[in-house]
Amino acid sequence: MALLTILCYPDPKLHKVAKPVPAVDARIKALVPDMLETMYEAKGIGLAATQVDVHERLIVIDTSEERNQPLVLINPEITWTSAATHLNEEGCLSVPGIYDGVQRFDEIRVTALDRQGKAITVEADGLLAVCIQHEMDHLIGKVFVEYLSPLKRNRIKKKMLKAQREEAD
Ligand code: NI
Repeated sequence: MALLTILCYPDPKLHKVAKPVPAVDARIKALVPDMLETMYEAKGIGLAATQVDVHERLIVIDTSEERNQPLVLINPEITWTSAATHLNEEGCLSVPGIYDGVQRFDEIRVTALDRQGKAITVEADGLLAVCIQHEMDHLIGKVFVEYLSPLKRNRIKKKMLKAQREEAD
């Protein structure tokens, strides 16, 4: 296993649209544990392949307290959402230190392939539903700060660029 580099906002590669995973083959089966390790190491609850510069529809999630219930969703599609939505505070490993409110569906149903390539359906609510929606947005090139006002987003962009410059010095 290997730790992968997480792209940081406003890296333009975060806005690439991911293509479907063509087959759950050896390449994908090797990528999944690397993504999980990277997510756990960064103390995140979700990671999309887009964030590690792999532009294919694959996300990993673990919202459990014990950090021992990994969920791998390959080619996920939302097939149902509740009418109700909620404003939730979100953060992102690609936008470290920034937290803000995003409106998300309370409940969703998702179909996907698991890490063995088996078709699964996941019904999610609460934090898991929020997390899946957040990670699936990454796959269409959308970072959560894009839901915020242009003023806030510009402020975040400047802050990130400044931090990245200081890190490079
Ligand atoms: Ni994120």
